[in-house]
Amino acid sequence: MTAQTLDTTAILDVLRPVQDPELQKSLVELNMIRNVVVEGGNVAFTLVLTTPACPLKEFIKEECENAVKTLSGVESVMVEVGAETPQQKDLPDRQGIGGVKNIIAVSSGKGGVGKSTVAVNIAVALAQSGAKVGMIDSDIYGPNTPTMLGLADSNVIVQDGANGQQVLDPAFNYGVKLVSMGFLIDKDQPVIWRGPMLNGIIRQFLYQVNWGALDYMIVDMPPGTGDAQLTLTQAVPMAGAVIVTTPQKVAIQDARRGLRMFQQLNVPVLGIVENMSYFIPPDLPDRQYDIFGSGGGKNTSEELGLPLLGGVPLEMPVREGGDRGIPIVINAPESASAQAFKAIAQQVAARVSVAALS
Ligand SMILES: Nc1ncnc2c1ncn2[C@@H]1O[C@H](COP(=O)(O)OP(=O)(O)O)[C@@H](O)[C@H]1O
Ligand SMILES: [Mg+2]
Repeated sequence: MTAQTLDTTAILDVLRPVQDPELQKSLVELNMIRNVVVEGGNVAFTLVLTTPACPLKEFIKEECENAVKTLSGVESVMVEVGAETPQQKDLPDRQGIGGVKNIIAVSSGKGGVGKSTVAVNIAVALAQSGAKVGMIDSDIYGPNTPTMLGLADSNVIVQDGANGQQVLDPAFNYGVKLVSMGFLIDKDQPVIWRGPMLNGIIRQFLYQVNWGALDYMIVDMPPGTGDAQLTLTQAVPMAGAVIVTTPQKVAIQDARRGLRMFQQLNVPVLGIVENMSYFIPPDLPDRQYDIFGSGGGKNTSEELGLPLLGGVPLEMPVREGGDRGIPIVINAPESASAQAFKAIAQQVAARVSVAALS
């Protein structure tokens, strides 16, 4: 091989065959390699990923380093990793939220399967990775995300907007901006919601909140497939939906109904999260019991024909964290459930990026 000058062109040339494993395209062609600087044998550049929660961050970085090291004369390689989350695709007849790049619905066929727990931990995990995250809790029957995010005593602040309309300032904790039905209704008072009123509030949550710039908006959907779900799904373009279920047969049947709703409304279903996949007893953390039947999520995902984003064990600290307002990904990041939530958040982010760019 003839001796090559070590310069920007040489670096880009040697990096050209390195692909983003999810998008299966060259990093160079995707404009993910930037700010290449060569000084003598020292090479530095920025690797701009499509999400700060990229599950393959370390792998891609290493591939880049290894490729550059094959060039003669290279003494050191410094890769700075950054991210630019792409904007989700538009959908006809739907109105996006200005500044919000990707709207992700977290839904379930019925209540009590852990939808809010999953939504909250995904949101906080994404924020921990460096993403800008917002959350809408549209569950009028059990708006408990304020409690789960340690915001039970907080509120949204109502401001007068430019056009005489009210604008809400979201509550904020653990890097997540939140608006919730829980801020608007009396906790001890049953509320009878009439369709138009409910629709009005949902639209306000979407379009009259100072969301600012967000990479991800997580929507904790009400359980089932009623009016609120339809309003939401038909109003905003959604990057995708995550369906939360448990291993029981009935839960899987309910999940199937939710799946059909999203499919009919052209919302891509990113996959399922099987919550309470198995039980880890607090005194024997190395044991696991398949109390709802076995399969570890695999059977469920096969039965529904959907990718499995991950399975979350049933662990007491998950519930305690929810009740105390300290999500498990914050409180016990090394626990099996926190690790599962983190991996699920990365899967969600990766799939959303692929959908936006393909
Ligand atoms: N993996 C888990 N391990 C232990 N408890 C859980 C787990 N997931 C959810 N829970 C608990 O189960 C209850 C219902 O969860 P929640 O997220 O409120 O369900 P949903 O929003 O579907 O109604 C809550 O008390 C929550 O803390
Ligand atoms: Mg809930």
